[in-house]
Amino acid sequence: MANYNKMNSILWDELTQIHVMAEESNYIDQLKSKKVLLKSTELEEVGDVRNKSLLHLQCHYGLDSLSWALLGAKVVGVDFSIKSIKYAQNLSTKFNIPAQFICCDIYELPIHLKRKFDIVYSSYGVLLWLSNLEKWAKLISNLLKKGGFFYLIEGHPYSMILKNSDDDYNLKITKDYFRHKKPKIGISENDYINRQYKIKNKSFTWNYAISDVLNTLTQANLKLEYLHEFPFSDNPYHKGMIKNKKNLWQFEKNSPQIPLTFSLKMYK
Ligand SMILES: C[S@@+](CC[C@H](N)C(=O)[O-])C[C@H]1O[C@@H](n2cnc3c(N)ncnc32)[C@H](O)[C@@H]1O
Repeated sequence: MANYNKMNSILWDELTQIHVMAEESNYIDQLKSKKVLLKSTELEEVGDVRNKSLLHLQCHYGLDSLSWALLGAKVVGVDFSIKSIKYAQNLSTKFNIPAQFICCDIYELPIHLKRKFDIVYSSYGVLLWLSNLEKWAKLISNLLKKGGFFYLIEGHPYSMILKNSDDDYNLKITKDYFRHKKPKIGISENDYINRQYKIKNKSFTWNYAISDVLNTLTQANLKLEYLHEFPFSDNPYHKGMIKNKKNLWQFEKNSPQIPLTFSLKMYK
């Protein structure tokens, strides 16, 4: 497993550069003027973070982490891509938004971090990179203070198995919904932000059903407050999606609505 994670961290160093280049002009100026870059869903559902300690797992180059910091949270962001962490630290210093960033595999976090948090947060595009769901859930539970909560907002696993094309907007099921033991190996895939970019490194990803995620977190001693499903997503993952008033992507109102995102809040 450690080997898969190591190879994925090399891939994420490659993707960080691509994402920074694609997004820099768009987001960095906003952050510079202290604009919070979080979507309305997580803002409403996580709620007031002032003076709360917040651990952001798989924080990429820190845009969400720094946004939570702007809202008053005491943030620690963790990611295994050194390029992501260096960029996040750079943004934090440059724009004077205090936050701590740690570069490590989340599975090795207990070696680097001995504290517990009020909130553990993770968002959009994280589950598929987890080589060990059970270890992930235990890690989260151990990192939370009693009465603290874990908040996850993520692409819906059902949406992930569907695909359509420019020629045919009808969604087709392209892979299994249920959990696989072995990782899927991605070769020469296109990046999801810069869609023209062919990724050079291989990816190793896993898929989990909603029941896997919920049951595994429950077994790790977390109690469910809610599980929500939404007909919109953070990115236009399928053809024919349009931007709504909240800057999120969804299918036209008169077409059938399917779950594209889910969120959950679980307490220790
Ligand atoms: C799609 S991005 C998440 C982006 C997130 N929505 C954000 O901007 O805050 C996935 C992130 O997970 C990180 N990652 C994947 N597996 C990891 C692991 N085992 N330990 C630490 N970080 C990991 C990658 O480096 C990448 O930055």
